[in-house]
Parts: sequence; C-alpha cells; structure tokens
Amino acid sequence: MARFRKHLFICVNEREDADPRGCCAAKGSREVAAAFKSRLHALGLKRLVRANQAGCLDQCARGVTVVVYPEGVWYGHVTVGDVDEIVEKHVLGGEPVQRLVLRDEELTGLDPARMPGAPPTVP
Ligand code: FES
Repeated sequence: MARFRKHLFICVNEREDADPRGCCAAKGSREVAAAFKSRLHALGLKRLVRANQAGCLDQCARGVTVVVYPEGVWYGHVTVGDVDEIVEKHVLGGEPVQRLVLRDEELTGLDPARMPGAPPTVP
C-alpha cells in the first residue's frame, strides 16, 4: 500500500456554548472537513491525500484549525471558502497559503529565538 503524500487534520472539536475557549465546531469545522474530503475526492486524490477529522489541536481561538503533514504547516481561521485555495496551492502546488499560516510564536507562545533548534544568540 502506498503511503499518503499528504495528511490533513481538521479540528472538529465541539464545546458547550458557554465555554470561554470556544471551539472549531462552532466556526464551521465539520463543513470545512467535508469540503476538504469532497474536493480531494473530486480531484481523484482520495488514495494519496488523507483528510481526517481531529480533536482539539489547542489553537481554539484561531480555529478552524487545520494541519498539513508532512510539512507540519498549521492553518488558522480556515473557512469553507479557503478549502479550494489550500488544496490547489498547497496540496497540489506545494506552496502554503501564507495568509492563513499560524506562525510558530502563535502556536507555542514562545519567542522564536528561544525555541529548540533556533540559532544560538551572540552575547
Ligand atoms: S477546538 Fe479546535 S483547536 Fe481547539
């Protein structure tokens, strides 16, 4: 069996309306996940690109959250209207849709210079 070329995880976590964290489901994540599956299927990519519904990806305020592997590109504020662009530019073209990419410091809350793998700072 061939390995998937790309693997998308779409948060569909749902919380109570009163929960201050909010959730991706309240922002249309199930529709986003369905749109990804539908578009990938229509393009004949079902066996090469997998779109999975995921639990909370800990970026709730920035949802709908989508992660694309193997690149490890994280998208935030994704809507159904963004799905075709992500598929065309990123999944097929290899270029992430920069306007939706969550930066490392947004994901981690850390200063990029202090992240593991960052170049050493010169005193
Ligand atoms: S509910 Fe989607 S990232 Fe937390």
